[in-house]
Amino acid sequence: MTILDGKKTSEALKQEIAEEVKQLKAAGKKVPHLAAVLVGDNGASITYVNSKVKACEQVGFASTLVKLPADITEEALLEEIDKLNANADIDGYIVQLPLPKHIDEQKILLAVDPKKDVDGFHPANFGRIALDMEAFIPATPFGIMELLKRYEVPTKGKHVVVVGRSHIVGRPISILLSQKGAQGNATVTLTHSHTPNLADFTRQADIIVMALGIPEFLKGDMVKEGVTVIDVGITRLQDDNAPKGYRIVGDVAFDEVKNKANYITPVPGGVGPMTIAMLLKNTLLACKWRERVVSKLLTINC
Ligand code: GUN
Repeated sequence: MTILDGKKTSEALKQEIAEEVKQLKAAGKKVPHLAAVLVGDNGASITYVNSKVKACEQVGFASTLVKLPADITEEALLEEIDKLNANADIDGYIVQLPLPKHIDEQKILLAVDPKKDVDGFHPANFGRIALDMEAFIPATPFGIMELLKRYEVPTKGKHVVVVGRSHIVGRPISILLSQKGAQGNATVTLTHSHTPNLADFTRQADIIVMALGIPEFLKGDMVKEGVTVIDVGITRLQDDNAPKGYRIVGDVAFDEVKNKANYITPVPGGVGPMTIAMLLKNTLLACKWRERVVSKLLTINC
């Protein structure tokens, strides 16, 4: 059994990105610049955004944190989005979710320029993914694909069962794994909370992606020998015996399932750490794509 170590892999990836930034600097080019919009004072959002800004510093990116009050109007937030879209120095940005209830999240995400949408949440990027076009892939499915690639987990001809149909994990990963290409060519079944007899599907699977949000849902008797298990779940469970009074668990009963698995991601330390690294990767891609467009324009103008 091999543990798909997201912590180690994300560190390696960040080092590679830092190396590319050094080369960009040495060539006199601009470094990638990520902005994050944080509305209000949701504790979890502040923690996430701070980790993203810190990760930018680690790899040598420029970063901008746009902090806005919880009572900002939708109109004023849309003006901030327009400014970020127009700012030529910013390669990509994210609007940290959730937003306060009085703001229409969908309206805000639609206002983000798809070319700067490094979260990959804009429908234009989802459509591009579905059509095999160059696109920003949301961080979680992008991180899963990167782990499968780096550990050379075979996917060609395999039966993948994805559990959960969310817009940012289940749906895109089911598309990516069924696409042509090295980490694709799988036969994918997308299941969800209304799939009857779910275990009948998971027991047939060569690869299972759990993104349901129910702690320790996938038990040992629900998988076959030799399975690959990717656990996207992350839930805090109260545990009076744990030093912090809680423990973090995924959607997989890890101790039972690991004995039957060929490859498995742990929680914590699996898919989670990959997400920030993939956001950095998307920002680097945004920077490169913008430079490509600018240099084309310059060539046309000359
Ligand atoms: N809130 C929780 N996860 C995310 C994420 O990946 N991106 C954004 N923008 N908000 C989030």
